[in-house]
Amino acid sequence: MNRDKMIERLRTKINEKRFIHSVGVEYIAASMAMALNEDVEKARVAGLLHDCAKGLSTKEKLVKAQNHNLPISDYERKNPDMLHGKLGAYYAKAKYGVEDEDILNAITYHTTGRPEMSLLEKIIFIADYIEPNRKELKDIAQIRYEAFHDIDKCVEHILKNTLDYLEAGDGEIDEMTRLSYEYYKKRG
Ligand SMILES: [Fe+2]
Ligand SMILES: [Fe+2]
Repeated sequence: MNRDKMIERLRTKINEKRFIHSVGVEYIAASMAMALNEDVEKARVAGLLHDCAKGLSTKEKLVKAQNHNLPISDYERKNPDMLHGKLGAYYAKAKYGVEDEDILNAITYHTTGRPEMSLLEKIIFIADYIEPNRKELKDIAQIRYEAFHDIDKCVEHILKNTLDYLEAGDGEIDEMTRLSYEYYKKRG
């Protein structure tokens, strides 16, 4: 499917704010791909589609994930909005014709990261966090600098701040986020 068709479909699936965020992630991911010698087209597709399942209601996310036989962790069962990565990858393939496994993995893991991410996975994970239409989070200037200068440090920094933020809230944390952080902390 070409970009125009993807845009046409995506616009009907997510609200305007999320659509603008998605195009922001597309462009930041493309810029990072250029700087890091990754495939720019793949980065654009993954960035554009990463939140394509986010428009479903919380309940729909759980029901659809079950219907499509996607693996659901205990944490995701309690927090079905976290399923939008896995569901997004499912729809990217089923509805937008994306076959590339690296793109599908980048969409699947954009919320939590995972140990040993590919370059494209890291780019989407970071671009989602730093794109300029999003609410600016703690340390954002430093994190944006790291994105273009030390990508692993950038991943670790985002995971650290995400964990700190979640711990300050209700304390519930997806195991994958913690695993990712431990992995990138050890590497750093
Ligand atoms: Fe997302
Ligand atoms: Fe996003």
